[in-house]
Amino acid sequence: MANGFPLQNCRAVITGASSGLGAEFARQLAPAAAELVLVARRPDALEEVKRGLPAGKARIECCTADLSTEDGRTGLLRFLDDQGLRPNLLINNAGLGDYGGFATSAMEKSRLQIDLNITALTLLSHALIPRLGRPGGIVNISSLAGTLPMPDLAVYAASKAYVTSFSEALAVELAPKGVTVTCVCPGPTPTNFSKTARRPDGGDTDRSGQGLLRIPPSRVVAEALAALAAGRPCVFPGAGVTVAGTLFRLMPRPLMRWFLRRRFNKGKVQAD
Ligand SMILES: NC(=O)c1ccc[n+]([C@@H]2O[C@H](COP(=O)([O-])OP(=O)(O)OC[C@H]3O[C@@H](n4cnc5c(N)ncnc54)[C@H](OP(=O)(O)O)[C@@H]3O)[C@@H](O)[C@H]2O)c1
Repeated sequence: MANGFPLQNCRAVITGASSGLGAEFARQLAPAAAELVLVARRPDALEEVKRGLPAGKARIECCTADLSTEDGRTGLLRFLDDQGLRPNLLINNAGLGDYGGFATSAMEKSRLQIDLNITALTLLSHALIPRLGRPGGIVNISSLAGTLPMPDLAVYAASKAYVTSFSEALAVELAPKGVTVTCVCPGPTPTNFSKTARRPDGGDTDRSGQGLLRIPPSRVVAEALAALAAGRPCVFPGAGVTVAGTLFRLMPRPLMRWFLRRRFNKGKVQAD
């Protein structure tokens, strides 16, 4: 296990900070941080989060960028340079999903999930690792969905499997270089995620059993930051999610496929 990352006086870049978990990271880090850079596409929402942050000594800057694009990512790096900001913590949190079958998905939304959940997270990490002050930290927001293939959420779950695998490899590579990497795998959490993932026809995902796993964003973020501070490479916030994540990771693949088929077909019968 790597050394833990000291949260006191950290200088953090938080992607997807205009709502949900990203805004909560900003709220929980603000009292201890020296610098916070809040990044997302909507400037008004970023400013609102900034206005609502608890008082502290942190310098807080908002950067408007569409991180799914090369221009947006370059714009963020230029913003850091122009503003003389020298982060030592990158929180790769921006991400989105898409509820429904792959064959009927809008290709643009599938591409967006890959561009944001995978490409942006990878390329921002690559660009910032050499610039991160030491001790450095990277928090990558994956998902419980990354532990299993998910029919009707196929691209999203696959993108998060990438995030978990990538993060756990980076944690090993970067520990000797003074950078702590923590992968966070939340279960269902009340944010804007579902609203964004739902299609115009209103289709939703199968939510049976999710009530046992749901915890508020404040707890997800508190457990994520505690894991980072302790140098833990991976955390499943909440007791229910920890159990589910462990079970899914240990489950033999044929049993997993049987379980998925059963759940998927049952959902279809109920919907018919
Ligand atoms: N909520 C859950 O149940 C859950 C469970 C497991 C994992 N997660 C993960 O948690 C992370 C945060 O999601 P959330 O639940 O907090 O959802 P959310 O409330 O919808 O927040 C998503 C954030 O990403 C930003 N964003 C979206 N597209 C972007 C783009 N192209 N460029 C820059 N920023 C962009 C959004 O801001 P703008 O619209 O202003 O750009 C927003 O700030 C995601 O990676 C998600 O996959 C969520």
